[in-house]
Amino acid sequence: MKNVPTTQAAFDEVRKSAIDIESMIANGPIAPIPAVRPEEVRSYLTSRYDFSKPQELDDVITDVEAMLRKWQVHVTHPRYFGLFNPSVTVASVVADVLVAMYNPQLATWRTSPAANEIERHTLTWLAGKFGLPSSAISNFTSGGGESNLSAVVVALTRAFPNFGEGGLRELPASPVIYLTGGAHHGFFKIARITGLGRGALRTVTMDRDLKMDVGDLAKKVAEDRKSGLAPLMVIGTAGTTAAGVIDPLAELASFCRREDLWFHADAAWGGAAIVSPRLRSHLDGIGEADSITCDAHKWFSVPMGAGMFFCRHPEAVLSAFESDISFMPGKTSTVVDPYTSTTQWSRRFIGLKLFLALAERGESGYAEMIEHQARMGDLLRNVLERTGWRIVNQTPLPLVCFTRDGLIPSKFLAELYKRQIAWMSEVQLDGGPPVLRACVTSFRTTEEDVEWVVSEMNRIEL
Ligand SMILES: Cc1ncc(COP(=O)(O)O)c(C=O)c1O
Repeated sequence: MKNVPTTQAAFDEVRKSAIDIESMIANGPIAPIPAVRPEEVRSYLTSRYDFSKPQELDDVITDVEAMLRKWQVHVTHPRYFGLFNPSVTVASVVADVLVAMYNPQLATWRTSPAANEIERHTLTWLAGKFGLPSSAISNFTSGGGESNLSAVVVALTRAFPNFGEGGLRELPASPVIYLTGGAHHGFFKIARITGLGRGALRTVTMDRDLKMDVGDLAKKVAEDRKSGLAPLMVIGTAGTTAAGVIDPLAELASFCRREDLWFHADAAWGGAAIVSPRLRSHLDGIGEADSITCDAHKWFSVPMGAGMFFCRHPEAVLSAFESDISFMPGKTSTVVDPYTSTTQWSRRFIGLKLFLALAERGESGYAEMIEHQARMGDLLRNVLERTGWRIVNQTPLPLVCFTRDGLIPSKFLAELYKRQIAWMSEVQLDGGPPVLRACVTSFRTTEEDVEWVVSEMNRIEL
């Protein structure tokens, strides 16, 4: 019998390439300057790819890589201080290649027992870290948007047993969802997708630290009840996108319990802090949530397309996404088939990238990665303050919003990009003036990077 071909050699190549690409990116530009125009990319593609005849794969790969290098903001660059797009661990890159090669279908358990159980094992471990009961149910999603959508659909299903059959039109009263202006804007989409409408979102006031004001929440819930509406759920964010603020999760959990409301913790970015002994107390109360969103493709540093949804009410999840159809193969009575407990049908093996990276680094390795980035955030804050900038947000997480007198962020950022110093963004906090926003998202960012960036920024005179 011929030897079964080993993939080891191929993976050694992938590993080596991933490391080479990582160092090439770190030593190159962060963003295309001047910014590329759509026509330039389109005419390049049109001139080379009409697909009329086959081309050598190696040539096409080389060409695609050249396009990616030239025409992309390099989010894995150690001086990319942008949105929550991480540098990626080599193990998680290898995992994505492995998944593509075996292409397991995770819709049913029977088709892919190994992949399904690897996902279940990883999620159960993380659910335990959050403090959810062992009966909680969880699944990998395409990202935080899908997880948050799952939360709203499951909350509706639990609060209104006839929702699945009769839909919104048969509800006894209109549901209301409470969140702050710091919650992720995807909830506006979710309100439309679910048919609730944007009017179902009630914006709760934030306190001076941009956390949800629980007093105002209580007032709004009471008013809505009085007006005959049906308060449904509260969204507490653990690491807001604009300012990295963590809402008072424990207070929100007990308020929701008292008021019989669903408490959803959107910890898409900040949730990874749960593996850090230094940071996890900032998430106190998250284990009391009815559901949690946490993205592996944010602070867990794995490639895109890896969200997670956790829920303490398996029966509500099963009833929200139930499906029974004869063409689906191999039902297994002792396990739940993912197509009957999640929004997706065909399912990619999303979880391997987190599993492999966790297995390789271990919990302590992950804690170190997270804490390193938090330390880089603290350093950034200190160096900025020391050199005359004003910090305008409060968070233990590595996201710094800052300004100085007379600053026009858009002009400053244009110069920052032109000089290839770093990639940062502009943000308005609670309707205030635009300020700069810098988030450390790479476990490869060093102290030298942070100090160099600030000293170069301080040379920009506008
Ligand atoms: C707090 C929060 N929730 C949800 C999302 C949406 O996540 P995704 O982009 O993975 O869909 C984001 C994205 O940045 C976020 O910051």
